[in-house]
Amino acid sequence: MIARLFTFVAAALIAAPLAAAGNPERGKQKADQVCASCHAVGGDWNKSLQPEYPRLAGQHRDYLVTALMAYKHGDKSQIGRKNAIMAGQAAALSRQEIEDIAAFLSALPGSLHLKR
Ligand code: HEC
Repeated sequence: MIARLFTFVAAALIAAPLAAAGNPERGKQKADQVCASCHAVGGDWNKSLQPEYPRLAGQHRDYLVTALMAYKHGDKSQIGRKNAIMAGQAAALSRQEIEDIAAFLSALPGSLHLKR
């Protein structure tokens, strides 16, 4: 009984981070289909369609996940983001898809980080 419980807990601990981790290949597929029209002119994620559309290449993974979850929640939570365009985009994404896209975008070379 105890051994069984231990096995279950150990399996859960090992599986949890794997399930949450994003898959950059799947993220690229989704982002190319859905997000590139505004955020990646000519497939370049450092070039967005309008100056007020944020560049996403090389953005921190945590930041991307938090921002997309905030759009998804809209103004229903204190950390929500209310934006008509992105609310629709984020609402259609699952948590796993958000993780996948964040894994893809955060690994791209980008000009967002300060040069030291
Ligand atoms: C129709 C154009 C359009 C599409 C398509 C689009 N976005 Fe956006 N995105 C925007 C605009 C405009 C903003 C700025 C919104 C604001 O001011 O909060 C934005 C903001 C963001 C931000 C916040 C960036 C920051 O620096 O805070 C993220 C992350 C983001 N988009 C990711 C995505 C992803 C992922 C997709 C695809 C699922 C996507 N966007 C599709 C227009 C778009």
